[in-house]
Amino acid sequence: MSEHAVRLRVNGQEQRLTVPAEELLIGTLRDRLGLTGTKLGCAVGVCGACTVLLDGQMVSACLLPAVFADGREIVTVEGLATDGQLSPVQQAFVDEGGFQCGACTPGQVLAATALLREQPDPSDDEIRTWMTGNLCRCTGYYQILDSVRRAAELGRPGAA
Ligand code: FES
Ligand code: FES
Repeated sequence: MSEHAVRLRVNGQEQRLTVPAEELLIGTLRDRLGLTGTKLGCAVGVCGACTVLLDGQMVSACLLPAVFADGREIVTVEGLATDGQLSPVQQAFVDEGGFQCGACTPGQVLAATALLREQPDPSDDEIRTWMTGNLCRCTGYYQILDSVRRAAELGRPGAA
């Protein structure tokens, strides 16, 4: 088993680690760094529960070997709040009840964050299409749609 030194910037902090070549990013985040907000669902890249941002792009941490993230910037759900203040997307999910059991929620929140960076004022169809890779076993899709819509409102200049 070969081991590799990697340097990851996770939620703004540099992490220098030695990981086996086959270790997946979700294992590095959860088991080595204690960032258990990233959830393991299907483990085959279908459900979106393990979504994190890699250099701002959504990736499935259950598919990506950690060595491929060497030198890259990773944001997990733990990295979204600033000075104890929830991000607009997190706040919107709270306001609109966009979660039930919560297993899919970190992935939903990160997917919505990526969407609103690309398209700050998405239509409902754009939200639905973007979020199709994030499944919710509790089937709270209407509330998730409401949450993303609300997050777009909160992100607008002058929003409360
Ligand atoms: S756990 Fe990674 S996509 Fe389902
Ligand atoms: S809130 Fe339970 S899986 Fe989505």
